[in-house]
Order: sequence, then structure tokens, then C-alpha cells
Amino acid sequence: MAERKRLVAGNWKMNGGRADGLALARGVAERARGSHGCDLLVCPPFTLLATAGKALAGSGVALGGQDCHAAISGAFTGCISAEMLKDAGCSHAIVGHSERRHTCGETDADIRAKTLAAWRAGLTAIVCVGETRAEREGGRAISVVEAQTAGSLPDGATSQNLIVAYEPVWAIGTGLTPTMGDIAEMHAAIRARIRADTRMLYGGSVNPKNAAEILALEDVDGALVGGASLKADDFWAIAEACG
Ligand code: PGA
Repeated sequence: MAERKRLVAGNWKMNGGRADGLALARGVAERARGSHGCDLLVCPPFTLLATAGKALAGSGVALGGQDCHAAISGAFTGCISAEMLKDAGCSHAIVGHSERRHTCGETDADIRAKTLAAWRAGLTAIVCVGETRAEREGGRAISVVEAQTAGSLPDGATSQNLIVAYEPVWAIGTGLTPTMGDIAEMHAAIRARIRADTRMLYGGSVNPKNAAEILALEDVDGALVGGASLKADDFWAIAEACG
């Protein structure tokens, strides 16, 4: 089986000012200087990239953006390009998070273009896919996610430039998670469509209590963590659950 080092990524979403962000990044950096068996990444809001980047320097924790625009530069008010993320010290960019698919109307084609932009800038794209509650209840979870995977992922993925995150929309920020069988089934379905050496994360209400069970599943190579990444202790407990 292809070697895939675990990754625990924190998505801070739209949370934190400079004081909070600095304290959190310092907390993560301190813990990360100890021994651990996984890669670590934090994705702060754009306004905190510089602050968090400084605090994380030398800790081995990578920095990522939560989104990027497909273009290099131009008249796109409020947007950030992949090149700008790279310039700010990022190595990763989340693209296609369901909060952007659903609140900003991003399509698979948009996400594919953003993934290519991330690659153009030399970033690893973390491409998110996941079904809604209605789609799961309607028995369409697998086909919806397969279609998102096919539509969002460009050709040209390598073990380094792509990570796929399965994040059921109904599990994000709700405290609900799919059964272990459902996570395993979905990861196997996605795996059939991507390279054997591409890492796949599970995201959606991962916390220190459920992390070990989720991270033990075959084809789960780490976690994309929202709420629990806002507390350094909780984020670290999830990292430790990687073993
Ligand atoms: P959550 O968010 O851990 O708060 O459910 C995960 C995500 O949206 O990436």
C-alpha cells in the first residue's frame, strides 16, 4: 500500500482577532515542537496569516489559506489569489469547502479552476467534497460525492499537490458524524477515483473523543478540523490520536 503520512489540519474559519490568533498559533507551535507522528497544518483567516505564520515559524506546522481565487491578480474585490497565499507563507489552500459551495455558490468547475490555480502557485490543494443531509437520506451520498470528485479534480494530481477532504455537510459544526462504516464506504469510493498515494482527510465534527476511532479507519489519512481546532489542547489531542 502507498505510504501516506497522516495530516491533521485546522480550519479556523472566520474566527479570531490578532490576540486570539497569536495565542492559538503559539499554543499549537509549542505543542508541535514535541514529538508527534503526523503532519500539522493550520488555516487561519487571511488577516491572521502573517501573525500565525510568524508564531509557527520553526515549529514544523504548515500554514494554509481557506480559499483562493482562480486568477493570478486583477479586479476581484475581496478575493485572494493562490500566488498571494504563497507569498504570505502558505503551502496549502483549502478549496471547495461546503461553506463556500453553499453560501458562495461555488460549482465543481469553479473548484477545479481554483485547484489548478493552487497548483500554478505551487500550493497543495485540499479539495473538499461532501453530501447534504437530504442527499444522504435520499440514498445519493455516494453518487453525489463521486460526481463532485470527478468534477472538481483536474488531471495532473500528484501525491504532493492534492489532498481530498470528505466532509459531509450535515456533519460540519453539528456534533453529528456518519457511522464509521459510512465514512469507510465513502473513502473507499473516493479512493477508487484518485491515486493510491493521495491523502484523504475526514472532516465534520472531529473532536478529541471521536478522533482515534475515525483516524483508525482504512483510507482515512487524517482530519480536517473546524471547531476543535480553535483550542490548542483539543487540536493537539486530535493530532495525538494519529498515534
Ligand atoms: P467542524 O468543521 O470540525 O467544526 O465540524 C469542519 C470543517 O468545516 O472543516
